[in-house]
Amino acid sequence: MKKTIEEHASRFDDHAADYDESQDSEAYRAAASLVIEHAAPSAEDVVLDLGMGTGAIGLALAPDAKRVLGRDISEGMMDEAQRKADEAGIENVAFETGRFREPNVDEPVDIVVSNFAMHHLANDEKREAIATIGDLGPRKFVLGDVMFFDGPDPDEPFYSPEVDDPATVGALADALTDAGFSLTAVERVHDQVGVLVAERAGGRAGTARQE
Ligand SMILES: C[S@@+](CC[C@H](N)C(=O)[O-])C[C@H]1O[C@@H](n2cnc3c(N)ncnc32)[C@H](O)[C@@H]1O
Repeated sequence: MKKTIEEHASRFDDHAADYDESQDSEAYRAAASLVIEHAAPSAEDVVLDLGMGTGAIGLALAPDAKRVLGRDISEGMMDEAQRKADEAGIENVAFETGRFREPNVDEPVDIVVSNFAMHHLANDEKREAIATIGDLGPRKFVLGDVMFFDGPDPDEPFYSPEVDDPATVGALADALTDAGFSLTAVERVHDQVGVLVAERAGGRAGTARQE
């Protein structure tokens, strides 16, 4: 991780109010749409959105899901998400502080989503985060993020090298497989942006299972 958790949180706190309008790239919008499309929760599904930010993914999924749990390290981003939920009359969402490797979730989840957030972690931390997600026992994990299909492009980085630390698609695929998932779709949105869909039979099989 190129910045501490506290530095990342403070950076996003400072930009929470103008975050939504700053996300104007075609690749971001395409990735967000694909994450929403692949998540496709049913009315019985509890969805966890990690690094939920201002709620681009979680708030879009809430009307179809039983409940959405949103977790983030930035209070400012979560406040913005809550404001948008209140404005839209969305009540089946619960936003709390949580990190990838300590998601602060004590109930079974069916689907985990994360968009444009995991690239803040170093590669070994991403592996730990993916193992933690596996332990929550979801049947599906949809990851949209900055990731390298052909390696970094220093001339046209889609990310900020001083704060971001994207992985290769291969490294993410290995971590997902090691966590017990099968990769069922790989969407290449851009040379440096993709959406991975990881699934496993059964679901709710992890340590968080309480039923
Ligand atoms: C670029 S925003 C993406 C927000 C949202 N998912 C979207 O698609 O618009 C990244 C978010 O990840 C959060 N974040 C960064 N590091 C995190 C961590 N270790 N655990 C949880 N959230 C984190 C930031 O606070 C920020 O809200």
